[in-house]
This record gives sequence, C-alpha cells and structure tokens, in this order.
Amino acid sequence: MHKTELIAALDTDTLKSAENLLKKLEGRVKFFKIGSVLFTAEGPAAVDLVHKHGGKVFLDLKFHDIPNTVKGAVRNAAAMGVYSVSLHLSGGAEMVKACAELEKRPKLWGITVLTSFDEYGLFRAGYRCGIAKTVRNLAALGLAAGADGVVCSPLEAAALKKEHGPGLKLITPGIRPQSRGDDQKRAVTPAAAREAGSDFIVVGRPIIAAEDPAEAAAAILEDLK
Ligand code: C5P
Repeated sequence: MHKTELIAALDTDTLKSAENLLKKLEGRVKFFKIGSVLFTAEGPAAVDLVHKHGGKVFLDLKFHDIPNTVKGAVRNAAAMGVYSVSLHLSGGAEMVKACAELEKRPKLWGITVLTSFDEYGLFRAGYRCGIAKTVRNLAALGLAAGADGVVCSPLEAAALKKEHGPGLKLITPGIRPQSRGDDQKRAVTPAAAREAGSDFIVVGRPIIAAEDPAEAAAAILEDLK
C-alpha cells in the first residue's frame, strides 16, 4: 500500500509560536516545513528548533537564481542538516545540475507550478501551454538535471507517476480537508492526494489556523490511511 507522509508547514512569525506548534503536534507529526515566513524572521535557529524536537526539516525557500548562487545556498542548507530544500525548476537545468553535483547535499525538491496558480494566472505569467503541460515539462527538465522529487498539485500527480514511474517522489501542497476559499486554487483533500500518488502532503493553514492543531493533524493522518 502506498504511504503518504504529512509535512506540517511551520508558517509562523516567531520561534515561540513555532515551538508551541511543535509541542502540540508532538507524537503525531515528525516532518516540518520551514519556509520564507519563519526563516526571514528567525533564520537557522528555526531549523535548530525542529531538530531539537527530533523533527526532520524541509527548507522551503524556493530558490531561483543563477546556478552558482543557488548552489551556494544549497551548500549552506546542507550544513544546517536539513533533509530537503526546494528550488523553482523554472530556474533551469543548469541551476538544478549545479546543486545536484554537490557532494553532501539535501534532497532537491523541484517546484513546477505553484498550487496558487489557475490556468488564467499561469497564462498571464507568460506560460502559454497550460498547467498540465508546464508541470510535465518542468518535471522532466528537473529530473533529468538531478532533482530528487517534484513539487506539484495532487491534480498533476497521477500523470507524472505514469510518465516517470512509481519511484518518482511527489510532494504536494494545496491540501484542504475542507474548502477555505483562499489563495490555493488547485487544492484537494488529503485522501484524494494519497489516491493520486502523493508521497508527501504539505499542510499549513488547515493545521496552523485550526482551533486545535493536534486534532486537525490527527484528522488529516486518519484521512491518509
Ligand atoms: O497554508 P497552506 O496549506 O496553503 O500552506 C502550504 C505551504 O506550502 C505554504 O507554506 C506554501 O508556501 C507552500 N507551498 C505551496 N505551493 C508550492 C510549494 C510550497 O503552497 N508549490
């Protein structure tokens, strides 16, 4: 049976609120995402905090720059001991390759099309061949250049697994147990993400903004079974 792991996004502004959340999720969630919100406020101390609580870190800083710069950032992320980092595959094959060549490095998870995009938004951003094809193209480029996993919406997951095989690691944000009517346009439920073949689901607000984050995480884990 295919297993889907929950990554909770620590999208908080302070170490204190991040630690509160870690404590509430203790025993349930072991994998945490640190993104630009917490990292710009607290820096590497946020990574240390998760490690101190025995958790694994996905450092989601969505790198997108010239190859040499991104390679330097990934090298520094490796020194922090994070499990994985994200890079925008639209940064190009050379950028991904420069990072993949690092001897000691975290897993490279390549972002295709953000889950906040719908067809119209992507078209306006200049991508003229539609979400499905853009995701396919970027995933193929990233995997050929050495990416270890692909970040996409669960809606594109099945097609990517079909094309690249069941061994492809898929990381899917845009998870909504219930519709929230927010910025995530290509959102699905945890169960639908698992059925589509997601290896990791990334969940932020449905846990963080819940009255009882532990209960919200437990319900999501139940849905993943
Ligand atoms: O609150 P919500 O569940 O929308 O949080 C999703 C998290 O996943 C956010 O931290 C967001 O930055 C991140 N993410 C995303 N789409 C991607 C990659 C990461 O929403 N393609």
